Amino acid sequence: MNFIITTPLYYVNDKPHLGSVYTTIICDSIARYKRLRGDKVIFITGVDEHGLKIQRTALNKGVSPKEHCDQISDIFKQNWIKWNISFNEFIRTTSKDHEKVVHEFYEKVKASNDIYMGEQKGWYCVGCEEFKDNPDNSATRKCPIHNKNLEWKNETNLFFRLSKYQKDIEELIRDPDFIEPKERRNEIINFVSKGLKDFSISRTNLNWGIKVPNHLNHTFYVWFDALLGYVSAISSEDNVYSLDFAIKTGWPANLHIIGKDILRFHAIYWPAMLISAGMKPPQKIIGHGFLTREGQKMGKSLGNVLDPEILLKKYGEESVRWYLLKDISLGSDGDFQDRRFVDIINNDLANTIGNLLNRTSSMSRKWFNNKTPSISEKNNFEIQEYANNSIKNYLNYFDKYKLDKASNEILYFATNVNLYLNKKEPWTLIKDENNINEVKLIIYNVLEATRIIGVLLKPLLPEFSIKILNQLGENDIDSRNWEESLKWGLLPKSNNLPKPKPIINKLEYE
Ligand code: MSP
Repeated sequence: MNFIITTPLYYVNDKPHLGSVYTTIICDSIARYKRLRGDKVIFITGVDEHGLKIQRTALNKGVSPKEHCDQISDIFKQNWIKWNISFNEFIRTTSKDHEKVVHEFYEKVKASNDIYMGEQKGWYCVGCEEFKDNPDNSATRKCPIHNKNLEWKNETNLFFRLSKYQKDIEELIRDPDFIEPKERRNEIINFVSKGLKDFSISRTNLNWGIKVPNHLNHTFYVWFDALLGYVSAISSEDNVYSLDFAIKTGWPANLHIIGKDILRFHAIYWPAMLISAGMKPPQKIIGHGFLTREGQKMGKSLGNVLDPEILLKKYGEESVRWYLLKDISLGSDGDFQDRRFVDIINNDLANTIGNLLNRTSSMSRKWFNNKTPSISEKNNFEIQEYANNSIKNYLNYFDKYKLDKASNEILYFATNVNLYLNKKEPWTLIKDENNINEVKLIIYNVLEATRIIGVLLKPLLPEFSIKILNQLGENDIDSRNWEESLKWGLLPKSNNLPKPKPIINKLEYE
């Protein structure tokens, strides 16, 4: 099955911040999981390069918008490579091919009689690239997200007949699976119930955008252009770009993961645009929460922005991944706390999982000639029962995109295995030769449990997972089907165990 998943296309006004890293890590984990379950995944990310915000940013820097976009787009792409993000497509909205798709799409929407010329008056936030609701006449109105003054606009623009799609959108959002989480879905239902208004899809007085055919003093509104990036990312065949080919590739997208601030665009405007062009709306949209730092909103003026590059250098990508995936429930806001970060990495990865692996493989090496124990039968231990339950829960959570719960299930399993080991005390049993078979069984089972932990961690922490499996002497990891490798008892008996080394270093408080 094809599975198309997308991050938002990030504005190139600045390099990636922790919010963009967060969304991208979530998508990466889901993409990896779906691949492991046998889907053919197309993971789309990219950048949103047009509009007033980008034009002004370039102007302030004293470079051309094109130069600015080339530079920041490249930083985004390189960053995702550094973060080990397994994207398949990286779309730039300034690419010529994307422009072709925008034009084709516009013609379809026009043919549906959904475009007309009208007057656009209102208060605009350049940061959001959005007209704000209920404008009053005070010039000091501020955007609640950017905390910057709104700008009054009064232009003749082309409009899209969103109001025509009231019924379609109502029907779409009635499906409880379309928007998650529930609270966000309710906000959208409430907004739609007030009646949808047409919105302008072109701008005059703005050069940095795609020109509207036959209206050459108009450029497309940046959101109309950007949303189409999801389609243009998969619409090329032998250098020919077409909407038909996007459909052939598998459109509609299965999952858009976005932040809660841009949900309306994705859950209302975008599906209506697609229906107008005769295409299917996306299947699901998850609006994740916002990250704060030590309880405070992150912002340049507050001086508390967490630079993801610094985090990456200091802690490595997988520690940050674990914290963001395990500690924040997808959909809720999350807080980045330095102390909590250090505690979680040390407790979960270094102690609960890392120590379990190291102490057990050390015992096995010491007592069984540097190998895994050779056992004649694999008794049905209590630990196997824990494994089966945890695997079932984990798959169930992952299928519902509850990544925090799936991560915690691995931890719960590892904690149970630690308790089991402490209860059995093989280090005491080994002192009496008569216990040797029992010790072999205990050690084999605990090592097998750590193998399962390594396999389960694969979509969440791909590198850490490999390290665990290598430490168990499993070097040919990818030759086995992932689901198959969750079966109990696959760890070979009498297999060489490499000398253990810490699979993660403990972090210090600063
Ligand atoms: N360019 C648009 C998206 C167009 S999609 C066709 C855009 N870009 S953005 O760069 O401003 O935002 C990208 C994502 O980052 C959004 O999903 C937004 O919600 C998210 N975040 C911005 N700040 C954030 C936090 N502090 N925490 C978590 N995510 C945040 O919007």
